[in-house]
Amino acid sequence: MGTDYKTLRVIPVSPALGAEISGVDIAAGIDDEQFAELQQAFIDYSVIFLRDQEITPDQHVEFAHRWGEININRFFQAAESHPMIAEVRKEAHQKANIGSSWHTDHSYDQIPAMGSILYAREVPQVGGDTLFASMYAAYDALSDGMKAMLSQMNAVHSSRHAFGEAAYAGVDMNDLGGRLGNTGAATQDAVHPVVIRHPLSGRPALYVNGDFTVRFDGWTREESQPLLDFLYAHACQNEFTCRLHWRKGSMAIWDNRATHHCALNDYHGERRLMHRITLEGVPLQAAA
Ligand code: SIN
Repeated sequence: MGTDYKTLRVIPVSPALGAEISGVDIAAGIDDEQFAELQQAFIDYSVIFLRDQEITPDQHVEFAHRWGEININRFFQAAESHPMIAEVRKEAHQKANIGSSWHTDHSYDQIPAMGSILYAREVPQVGGDTLFASMYAAYDALSDGMKAMLSQMNAVHSSRHAFGEAAYAGVDMNDLGGRLGNTGAATQDAVHPVVIRHPLSGRPALYVNGDFTVRFDGWTREESQPLLDFLYAHACQNEFTCRLHWRKGSMAIWDNRATHHCALNDYHGERRLMHRITLEGVPLQAAA
């Protein structure tokens, strides 16, 4: 990527995105020089992975504050005594996990989240990996004609269908086990450019996702769906992805404007407990 890191060791994990970072101990403290390098790595690689961090929930919150304001998730159960930390949890007896389809966090907000900091407290022996996909790579690989059309378009995003009452029709509430709720708060609708100019890197990125985008602005759902389906399949093809195999104490910090992610649900019979803090972003601008 061309950045000369002095306090970090940075190993890219795929050509498209992602880097594993060593030389960081959050609990011991991070000075301003090293924090600036972490921010640069976040811009350069879109998602960064730290290993073997031993932190308390308070240290997680303190670390998140270094990155910016915290955006409290309305729908996930919070960690005990820590409303700023959302639990991403699946018990050994539960079947459904959270985040199993490709998405980016909180795109339904008028000012969508900058990033998320996910920390592994308990992981299965094998499985439960997270996949990430680069929305820069997805945009870059589109034809010039498609880029030109999408760059003039906006899309409507919503939390209503994903977290409102209707989202739970037919869902086994015993299996859900109090992990998601607060359906009455699912009232967010937002319109964002389909191709954004990334606020930090200045690069164009595709900004629609299967969990929260409902249609193109000015188009019906029926008109929108075929093109959205094409874009979702295009965006998450293998060459644009990387994969994190979690260990207890691993942390991923991802950019919600430059990536999609999806949590694999292949570890039935084992518990997985992650703590997520989501960070406030800025209004998104069109790339064109
Ligand atoms: C999420 O979608 O934020 C959860 C990702 C994961 O559990 O790996």
